[in-house]
Amino acid sequence: MDVRGSVCLVTGASSGIGAATARALSLRGARVLAAGSDRGRTEAVAAGAGGTALVADLEQEGAALKLAAAAQAVHGRVDVLVNNAGVGWAGEFAAMPETEIARLVQVDLTAALLLTRALLPGMAERGRGHVVSVGSIAGHAGGRGEAVYAACKAALAAFTESLRQEHARSPVGFSVVIPGPVATPFFDRRGVPYARAFPRPVPAERVAAAIVHAIRRDRPQVVVPGWLDGPMRLRGALPELYRPLVDRFG
Ligand SMILES: NC(=O)c1ccc[n+]([C@@H]2O[C@H](COP(=O)([O-])OP(=O)(O)OC[C@H]3O[C@@H](n4cnc5c(N)ncnc54)[C@H](OP(=O)(O)O)[C@@H]3O)[C@@H](O)[C@H]2O)c1
Repeated sequence: MDVRGSVCLVTGASSGIGAATARALSLRGARVLAAGSDRGRTEAVAAGAGGTALVADLEQEGAALKLAAAAQAVHGRVDVLVNNAGVGWAGEFAAMPETEIARLVQVDLTAALLLTRALLPGMAERGRGHVVSVGSIAGHAGGRGEAVYAACKAALAAFTESLRQEHARSPVGFSVVIPGPVATPFFDRRGVPYARAFPRPVPAERVAAAIVHAIRRDRPQVVVPGWLDGPMRLRGALPELYRPLVDRFG
C-alpha cells in the first residue's frame, strides 16, 4: 500500500530500528505515531519525524490496548502497525528467571498480538491497512542462550503467516521482517554484547528500508541482509545438513 498520508503506529520507535522506521515512513509522507516507553527519547523521535509521541510501557497489563486506543484517537484511525518493540535476554534457559520469561513474552509477543487484535478490525472495515512484525533470524535458526527470545520471534512469523491466510481475500497486508544482527542498543540493553565476528551488524536504516518496502509491496517476508535467507532455506530443505553446521559453527 502507499504509505503517503497513511497513519502509521511504530512501537519501539524511541530507539534503533523503530526510530529509523519512524524517520523512513515520515520521509515517504506518512503520519507517524511513535510509541516508546522512554518519554524523552520517544518525544525526540516523534518531533524529528513530524509525528506524535505515545508513551507506553508494554510490559504492563492493559498497556497495549490503551496504546491502541490512544493511537486511534490521534487521527481517528491507524492504517499501518509496525510491531517492533522488543527486548532480549541472553543466558542458559534453565537459569532464566520466571519474571524475565514473562517480560519477554509480554513485550516481544503478547503486546504485538493485542495491538494487532485491536487495530485490525478498523483496517479491514476501511479496506486498507498493513501490519508488519519485526522478527529475528533467531526465530528461524534458533540461538544458544536465546531460547525464549527465539520462541517469541518464531511465533511472530507464524502469526503473520496465519493472518495472511485468514485475510487472503482482504486488502489488508501482513509482513514479517527478519533481521540478522543490527547495530542498535539492543545488545547493550540485554547486558550481553554481540560477540560474533560474522555476520556483521547492519545499520538500523537498512531494516527500516525493508519495513517500508514490505508495506509498499505487500511482501510476506523480508530477510535483512538478504543472504541470511540461504541458511533459513537450508534448515527447511536439508535439516540433516544444516544441523551439523550449526553444532560446529552456530
Ligand atoms: N538489534 C538486533 O540485532 C536485532 C536483530 C533482530 C531483531 N531485532 C528486533 O528489532 C526490534 C527493535 O530492536 P532494536 O534493535 O532497535 O533495539 P533497541 O534499540 O533496544 O530498541 C528496542 C525498542 O523497544 C522498545 N521497548 C522495549 N521494552 C519496551 C516496553 N516495555 N514497552 C515499550 N517499548 C519497549 C524500546 O523502547 P524504550 O527505549 O522507550 O524503552 C525501544 O524503542 C526488536 O523487536 C528486536 O527484537 C533486533
